Amino acid sequence: MIGVFDSGIGGLTVLRSFLRDLPEYDYVYLGDNARTPYGNKSLDIIYEYTRQAVGFLFDQGCMLIILACNTASAKALRKIQQQWLPSYFPDRRVLGVVIPLAEAGVEVTRFGRIGVIGTRATIESKVYEQELEKLRGGLKVHGLACPLLVPLVEEGWVGKPETNMILKKYLQRLKDAKVDTLILGCTHYPFLQHDIERIMGKNCKILNGPDIVSQKLKDYLHRHPEIEGRVSRKGRITFFTTDDPGRFKLFGEKFLCQRIAGVEKVTLG
Ligand code: DGL
Repeated sequence: MIGVFDSGIGGLTVLRSFLRDLPEYDYVYLGDNARTPYGNKSLDIIYEYTRQAVGFLFDQGCMLIILACNTASAKALRKIQQQWLPSYFPDRRVLGVVIPLAEAGVEVTRFGRIGVIGTRATIESKVYEQELEKLRGGLKVHGLACPLLVPLVEEGWVGKPETNMILKKYLQRLKDAKVDTLILGCTHYPFLQHDIERIMGKNCKILNGPDIVSQKLKDYLHRHPEIEGRVSRKGRITFFTTDDPGRFKLFGEKFLCQRIAGVEKVTLG
C-alpha cells in the first residue's frame, strides 16, 4: 500500500493524480482534519502530528508514504527521514512534495525568477529556496505566505469575487517581481489554479503540484524495484480521517468523482 497523508482534504488533489496515473496500486489516505490547519502551527507540533500520522499509516501496512502536505514536507520530513525512520522502520520510505516541485521549477523557468506561494509555515521554513538553490545557484526565488487561501478553499469560496480580490492582492508582489514560474506550494492551491493563471498572465508558468508529484512517484517506483515490489496492487483505496467521516466522504466523493465505500475515524497520538 502507498500512504498519502495530508493535514486535511487538500491531499485529495494529489491522490486524484495518483489514481489517474498509477491506478494499479493500493492506497491509504489519511487526513488529519481534526487538527488542520498545520500551516500556522509551530515546528514541534507539525513534526509531532506528522510523525503520529506516518506511524499510523505504517501500522496499516504502507511501505511508502507520500506527505502530500507541503507544510508537513517542509517542517517534518527531513527529521522523520533522518532521525525517526532509521530507528523504527528502516525498510520503509517517506517522501515529500517539495523536491519534486523544486525540480520541476528548475526545469521550466526561463529567466530564473521563481515564485512560491504556501502557508506561513512552509514559506518561513525557506525549504523551497534551499532546495532550488541546491539544484541551481543564482535563481531569484520569491516566497509568499498566503494564509487566507486555505480557509477560503475549505469554505468553498473558489471563484467568488472576494476570493479573486484577495488572490490579486497577494499575487501582485509576484507580478511586480516578474516571476516566470510559480510553484503552488500548498495542497489547496490547485483548486484556485485557473484564477491564479488568469491573474498571473501567460508569461508565468503555474506548476501543477499533484501532476508533478504523481510523475515523480512513477519515476521513483521505477527506480526502486525493492520498494515497488512490496507495494500491494489490487487498486483498493482506504480512507481515514481524524474528524467527521460523513463530511469527509461527501467531499471526497464529489472531488474524486467516485463512490467511497467507507471512511473510518481515527484518533492520532
Ligand atoms: N495541507 C497544507 C499544505 O499543503 C495546507 C493546509 C494546512 O495549513 O494544514 O501546506
